[in-house]
Amino acid sequence: MSRSAECVRSITPAEVRQLRHAVLRPFDPPEKLVYAGDDAPDTLHAGAFVGGELVGIASVCREAMPVGSDSRGSAEGGAWRLRGMATVPAVRGGGHGRALLEGCFRHIRAQGGDLLWCNARVAALGFYERMGFAAQGEEFEIVPIGPHYVMTRRL
Ligand SMILES: CC(C)(COP(=O)(O)OP(=O)(O)OC[C@H]1O[C@@H](n2cnc3c(N)ncnc32)[C@H](O)[C@@H]1OP(=O)(O)O)[C@@H](O)C(=O)NCCC(=O)NCCS
Repeated sequence: MSRSAECVRSITPAEVRQLRHAVLRPFDPPEKLVYAGDDAPDTLHAGAFVGGELVGIASVCREAMPVGSDSRGSAEGGAWRLRGMATVPAVRGGGHGRALLEGCFRHIRAQGGDLLWCNARVAALGFYERMGFAAQGEEFEIVPIGPHYVMTRRL
């Protein structure tokens, strides 16, 4: 159990969009930051709190790996996608990102999933590697954010 796991709980899609906007996509208004799968019944939006304030977010939903990945990456085969992984700058390095991901891992395992993937910003590769993810394939660009890798973690 991580240092701050007790501060992580499920939140609503509306709550998650505020930090998606503030940390990840300041050029898009919160109401535009609606992702496929956000409202699916088994999707988890996890929020990390300090003193009642939302300081970190992560969302996981059932979604197949991108085209070209192996067949074990199908949604039916247990693949889930991580989106909107972020903590506010003031708490980085404090274990909240880890606690959020551990909550996501538990949720996915409880739903019978066994693979988590994401499009990882190059600046966050070290975090994902520390959390057991491995980069797959070639670097690619997501405009206007920058270079990314697909990363996967078996659960
Ligand atoms: C990436 C991010 C979510 C990490 O959150 P965090 O709250 O700092 O993560 P934690 O403190 O739980 O870190 C977990 C571990 O990863 C390590 N880590 C965190 N960021 C790292 C990085 N950029 N490079 C290498 N290691 C990193 C921590 O040192 C910690 O290691 P430990 O297990 O030895 O203690 C956060 O930096 C962030 O929001 N960045 C900006 C948005 C972003 O890029 N999100 C990812 C989009 S794909």
